[in-house]
Parts: sequence; structure tokens; C-alpha cells
Amino acid sequence: MNKPLRLGILGAANIARSFASGVAAAQDVKIVAIASRDASKAEGFAREFGIEHHFASYEAMLCNSEVDAVYVPLPNTMHAEWSIRAAAAGKHVICEKPLAMSAGEATEMFAAAEQYGVILREAYPYLAQPQTVRTRELIAEGAIGRVQLIRASFGVPFSDRSNIRLNPTLGGGSLLDAGSYPVSLCRMLVGAPPKRVQAVARWTADALDRTLVATIDFANGVLAQISCSFATAFHRHALIVGEQGVIETDYTNHAWSGSHPEIKLRRGLGFRAPYETIFCPGGDGFCFETSEFGALVKGDSEKWHGASPQDSIDIARMLDAAAISARDDGQWVCL
Ligand SMILES: NC(=O)c1ccc[n+]([C@@H]2O[C@H](COP(=O)([O-])OP(=O)(O)OC[C@H]3O[C@@H](n4cnc5c(N)ncnc54)[C@H](OP(=O)(O)O)[C@@H]3O)[C@@H](O)[C@H]2O)c1
Repeated sequence: MNKPLRLGILGAANIARSFASGVAAAQDVKIVAIASRDASKAEGFAREFGIEHHFASYEAMLCNSEVDAVYVPLPNTMHAEWSIRAAAAGKHVICEKPLAMSAGEATEMFAAAEQYGVILREAYPYLAQPQTVRTRELIAEGAIGRVQLIRASFGVPFSDRSNIRLNPTLGGGSLLDAGSYPVSLCRMLVGAPPKRVQAVARWTADALDRTLVATIDFANGVLAQISCSFATAFHRHALIVGEQGVIETDYTNHAWSGSHPEIKLRRGLGFRAPYETIFCPGGDGFCFETSEFGALVKGDSEKWHGASPQDSIDIARMLDAAAISARDDGQWVCL
């Protein structure tokens, strides 16, 4: 039981490099394998990160009995297929966001995990970051009263058409890539299912959403607005407003180089109330996230701060609805 969880990576993705660096510091998880469609890429990756096994196909890694769980950093259109294949091979799965291309796919993925008796979770490093954990505690403690409104954004510039994010056949678009962050944040903070969604977008020449703004009406009365973009300077911010105060956070994935993420908290109703700055310990979100995943696999579900299967399905439902609404000139989509 005290042995580290042995993790394999499916695909030598760019993000897999940051993941491997971050997870190297985790106590209870060890990366033991890397698979790539290209044998030399797998070998180079294994050498660079000191990984024991490398495979020239994803299938080969799934057959290896020394791998307990896999990390899936493949293009979005491949998440469902490879998560299900990994589950069928008896591997636990931590899959990159967005978990799936649709809520239907997400539901099939969790059904497969249940059928094969493995754990599947969607990866959002910011949810394991102490900054987000503390934000949720503050809300639960009533620091800002009952939450009424959330405004959350994430924008990151991408224009290179060779990037998977700008490829319509690989699940590109700002909503699935960047928008999954603010949508997931809203779902986690609201703690209730969405009722309806409305969205407006600006499009690329390939008809992918480049910038999108959505309003989400939650079943418990909370209203949220999210935005995402590939056409802006980097920005990441959330404003959470309750009946008794305000929280602002950049809900960061990672706090590198000794930086300390902070939360701005204003208690009270008036505009004269001062903001408190709450400094949180920080670190590599992949390290936090995989440690929590390792504990979850070993049965310690209390340690997992990430999305539950139902959270992930609701996130996918909101992403589906926002995409439909944006293509339908902003009509409300009821869920
Ligand atoms: N959590 C985060 O902070 C974070 C950050 C960035 C990205 N992501 C997510 O991680 C995933 C990967 O993003 P990335 O930027 O790392 O992508 P990437 O560098 O393009 O890597 C994707 C990998 O998928 C494999 N692949 C298999 N079939 C492919 C195909 N037809 N075309 C392209 N690649 C293919 C390739 O690995 P091989 O050639 O080795 O087989 C490739 O290296 C996405 O789902 C993204 O949303 C998450």
C-alpha cells in the first residue's frame, strides 16, 4: 500500500514535459513509462526524465503490468478513446482537460471506468493548488456570504495553425481549451448543476471559436459569466461575489520560482471596506494533483480536491451548451 503509484504517460506531448518535471517531486507517485507513436521520441523523453520504460505505441504501454495508471495528454478528440482503452486494460486514468469532446463521451468514459473497476478523473492542476483549496474553504466558511455572481476569464494567445488548439479535427477552439478552466471553476464553486447557458463567439477562418463569452444560469440561482480567448494577451482572473463580500483570484495552475499565489478578500458590503491579501503556499500544480490522485487510487478520497465524475459531466454539459448557443447566435440552451 505504501508503494508509489506507477504512472505511464500516453504521448510525448508538450504538456507532458511540464507534467514529468512537476511529478518528479511527488512522494507517492512515480512516472515509470512513456509511450509515443515515435520510438525515438519516447526514448529521448525517457532519457531526459529518467523514466524506466519507453514504448513505441500507446497499446504497448497499456499491456505493461508495471504501469498502474496513465496520464492522458493527447489531443482532445483522443481523450475518450484512450481513457476507455486504458480503463479496459485495468489502468487508472488521469486525463487532461477537457475530459471529452461532449458530455455523452464523458458519461461513456466514467461508465467504462466503473465497468473495469478503475478510477478516472479529469486533470485541473489549479484545483489542487492551495490557493483554490483556500478559496473554497473561505466560501464554505461564509467569508463572503452566499455566492450570487461569478465572473471568470482565461485567455492565452495562440495563432500558430500547427498547434492542436487551432486544428478543427483535433478538438481545437478556445472554449474547450481555455474555457474549460473558468467553466470548471464556476461548477466547483457553485456546487450545483447548470440550468441553462447562453454564449456568443468570434470565429477563426476554420470556424473555431477564437473568443467566447457565456452566461451560465445555475439551478441554485447563482449567475456566472465566463470568457475565454486565443486572441488576447494572457489573462486569468475570477471575481466571486457573495451577499457579504468579494473574492478575487487568478486561480493559478502553478506557482513556480517561489512565488506565492494570493487571494484578495473583501468582507462586508461597502466599497470602503479594505481588501485583505491572503498569501497561500504554492507549488507545481501537477505535483499536487498527482499526489492527490495517488491518494485517491489508494482509497483516500478526502485528499482529492479535483472534479468528481458528476462535476466533470456537468462541466462537459456546459461546454456543449455554450458551443451550441454560440453557433445559434446566442440562443439560450436549456440543460
Ligand atoms: N493542464 C494543463 O495545464 C494543460 C496545459 C496544456 C495542455 N493541456 C491539455 O493537454 C493536451 C495536450 O496538449 P499539448 O499542448 O501538450 O499538445 P501537443 O504538444 O500537441 O501534444 C499532443 C500529443 O498527442 C500525441 N498525438 C497523437 N495523435 C496526434 C495527432 N493526430 N496530432 C497531434 N498529436 C497527436 C502526440 O504524442 P506522440 O507523438 O508522442 O505520440 C503529441 O505530442 C490537451 O488536451 C490540452 O488541453 C493541459
